[in-house]
Amino acid sequence: MKRSFVRLIPLLLLAGITAPVDASDTVPETLREAFAGHFHVGAALGRAVIEGTAPGVQGLAARQFDTVTAENDMKWENLQPEEGQFDFGISDALLDFAEANDMQVTGHVLLWHQQTPDWVFQDDTGAPAGREQLLQRLETHIQAVAGRYRGRVHGWDVVNEALNEDGSLRASKWLEILGPDYIAQAFAMAHAADPDARLIYNDYNLYQPAKRDGAVRIVKALQAKGVPIHAVGMQAHYGLGHPEDLQDVARSIQAFAALGVDVEITELDMAVLPFPQGSDGGANLDENFELQERLDPYRDGLPEDVAALQAERYAALFRIFLDHEAVTRVTFWGVTDAGSWKNNWPMVGRTDYPLVFDRQGKPKPAFEAIMDLVR
Ligand code: G3I
Repeated sequence: MKRSFVRLIPLLLLAGITAPVDASDTVPETLREAFAGHFHVGAALGRAVIEGTAPGVQGLAARQFDTVTAENDMKWENLQPEEGQFDFGISDALLDFAEANDMQVTGHVLLWHQQTPDWVFQDDTGAPAGREQLLQRLETHIQAVAGRYRGRVHGWDVVNEALNEDGSLRASKWLEILGPDYIAQAFAMAHAADPDARLIYNDYNLYQPAKRDGAVRIVKALQAKGVPIHAVGMQAHYGLGHPEDLQDVARSIQAFAALGVDVEITELDMAVLPFPQGSDGGANLDENFELQERLDPYRDGLPEDVAALQAERYAALFRIFLDHEAVTRVTFWGVTDAGSWKNNWPMVGRTDYPLVFDRQGKPKPAFEAIMDLVR
């Protein structure tokens, strides 16, 4: 129900006019209901959730979200671990689960410099593959994967994390072997494999002006070549202290929207733990109590004041998303705090609380704060 009508209700009631009571008048209790008409709300699903072996989490996801992404199981290393050997078992299960629950699927990810098997970049002798061989492998992969789910996957993260923090192109094996044209090649191949899929360039820290400008250059270059791109994916792996100025997020959304593309918030989470400056990240927390206290302070639970701070920041972020028509999707990178990758990155074995459902799958203050924006 549009917010403007909601504001009229008290006046209507005073005038003795009561709106007809129907399902749309009930207070929304799920994220997918609450934000319907604004943007899709979803989550990344780990293998246990897709397979239904994470008790209750799969049901929570089906109730709360109307779009899903495979956290790892549609990446190259899982779909084509050896050349010509495809394994679609888990990805097929994700599509079936999504379609059974009226959810869209975003395919993550066709081309990335990580979680891509070494064989992709090597010739038969183990030397670096040549341009033609790598291009052929990329086309074979994209045709097999995006072609298999043609008409079923709503959008694809076609290229992930091609930029450095200064907005220059990352020196990945893709760039080294294929040259900067690899991005346009991947998008063109994805469009050929599934002409109706939305094609997304996905990256992190795009709120930073230099990296934002790098993404603008990518979009403009694709548009200049007449290669389809429909959205920029802002991963949005944030924390209580970064971005320092959330208006940088708004400025990036506006910059991408000005190009005529949508913005999808693809991997949203908000860490509450300190970033281990200087530590090698590999230090064994269990052997170092001082380190535990400093870098893993909430092992026994999330303090209420920290939960409240996180709720305020999530609400401020969602206000920005609601204020920009260009935002068409917001996907959390996980369902509950228990399954978040942030418990093991940048340090293994910490207890973080980056999402809006707690370790028992219960709504946190952050859930209530964002729901209150549209209730
Ligand atoms: O599946 C193996 C398991 O068999 C093994 O026992 C276990 C211990 O080594 O590792 C398991 O694989 C792990 C995999 O997640 C599945 O849990 C990998 O080690 C681990 O590196 C991998 O991490 C994923 C990470 O991408 C890899 O870069 C995270 O789950 C995933 O959340 C994260 O997601 C990325 C996005 O794809 C792109 N944007 C950034 C985001 C966060 O890094």
